Amino acid sequence: MKLAIFGAGYVGLSFAACMAEAGHDVLCADADASRIEGLQQGQMPLHEPGLEALVAEGLAAGRLRFTADKCAASMHGDVLFIVVNTPADAEGEVDLQHVMAVARSIGQHRDRDAVVVCKSTAPVGTAEQVEAVLRDELSQRGAVHRIAVAVNPEFLREGSAVRDCRQPDRVVIGAADPAAIDLLTQLYAPFVTDPTKQLLVMDRRSAELTKYAANAMLATRISFMNEMARVAGHAGADIEMVRRGIGSDRRIGPDFLQAGAGYGGSCLAKDVRALRHAADRDGQVLRILSAVEAANHEQKGRLFDLMTHHFEGDIAHKTIALWGLAFKPDTDDMRDAPSLVLLERLWAAGARVQVHDPAAMPNARAIVGERGDVRWCDTPEDALEGADVLALVTEWPVFRRPAFARIASTLKTPAIFDGRNVYDAVEVEAAGIAYYGIGRGRSV
Ligand code: NAD
Ligand code: UGA
Repeated sequence: MKLAIFGAGYVGLSFAACMAEAGHDVLCADADASRIEGLQQGQMPLHEPGLEALVAEGLAAGRLRFTADKCAASMHGDVLFIVVNTPADAEGEVDLQHVMAVARSIGQHRDRDAVVVCKSTAPVGTAEQVEAVLRDELSQRGAVHRIAVAVNPEFLREGSAVRDCRQPDRVVIGAADPAAIDLLTQLYAPFVTDPTKQLLVMDRRSAELTKYAANAMLATRISFMNEMARVAGHAGADIEMVRRGIGSDRRIGPDFLQAGAGYGGSCLAKDVRALRHAADRDGQVLRILSAVEAANHEQKGRLFDLMTHHFEGDIAHKTIALWGLAFKPDTDDMRDAPSLVLLERLWAAGARVQVHDPAAMPNARAIVGERGDVRWCDTPEDALEGADVLALVTEWPVFRRPAFARIASTLKTPAIFDGRNVYDAVEVEAAGIAYYGIGRGRSV
């Protein structure tokens, strides 16, 4: 099939490369001309495991091409995917300008029938708005092409985007148009083992809401576990044991029960906010999601609270080694990262920070600049030199099995604040290091 993909970000680029790998002829467009120039030369604009090789393979085979020409992209192929950013403001109002810009461009340039697919996460009713914009543009130039609009939300995770694209748990297709359903079914059938169970065809509004409900459910599980971690900390219980204890119940399942420094990233918080806001506008108060948001806001301050307790309120002039900045491992994405909250709190309290992250330091630097007292370190060990204590914020594999004896001899007052509960408290304390986890014994 010939596909046009608008948006070469975390989702668009991963999706484009995987579709090219599957044998399709893919033209991927982005409004950012410098991103496109780089991609045409095989330079990656983002860090995503396995993606660089896949892009190179697609380019070499001629199945994956990049363009900044929206007109060329609007004319390409049978199915056109809109995969642009849909940010939400502090209230949760979603900015659809990029989605609508693509719709307008397709309406202005398309020279034949097409299926347009909304893959960006967008509020219920967006596909109808996209359809109206397309119809308006077509009618302004007297064009009579049939353009069907479908919804196909994306559920991939950053850090495993390629794997998730290749092997999705399920594919949601929101459409009424038989030709659109048929094309999307053909496109996705090779990616699932049981199309009858994993390809879920539904109406567009349900597909749009499914995406928000999925992210809201994931955020709810995390906030629930973070709340249980507080209970565990005070009760002298270990949340990791509780996690295993409840996760082995098939009705609950083991995933997304990890307590930690709060959920970050470009989507969970944004989508919970947007869902709550949209419901609010319809006169419905979503009490659970308001609590999920509030709990996550508090949780992002958890590591700082533990440190304040450890230093008996006096963090000024202390030097904190910080391992991990990205909102999760295997990505350079700093959007809504819990580390940003910790940095701001530490700086406000007069602390110095020495950080290392395997991929996110350039993006972090672009966000925080040289605002606070920070040393950017090339290795995890560098970050420890001269530091009082260590905080782990992102559980990159490189941080998982450190030499505790070396940490004990390097830190001035050896203590680890384990924001992702990856270390064994007994092993850490046996090395002479005080251990603080999330919901594991030492409570404040
Ligand atoms: P991103 O910010 O990484 O990438 C978006 C890209 O779209 C940017 O490169 C931008 O320049 C480009 N763009 C903006 N306007 C354009 C236009 N008019 N024409 C062509 N390109 C344009 O965003 P992302 O993280 O890839 O997310 C894209 C969408 O997918 C969002 O709606 C998001 O909520 C959703 N989503 C994201 C993830 C994720 O893990 N990041 C997962 C599932 C769904
Ligand atoms: C999330 C969803 O998992 C994807 O299905 C969805 O497509 C995507 O949002 C989106 O819409 O953008 P992503 O944000 O990439 O994916 O990463 P997650 O693995 O969900 O992690 C999000 C945050 O939650 C991270 O900060 C992570 O550390 C935290 N988390 C995750 C926990 O604190 N505990 C857990 O058990 C799992």
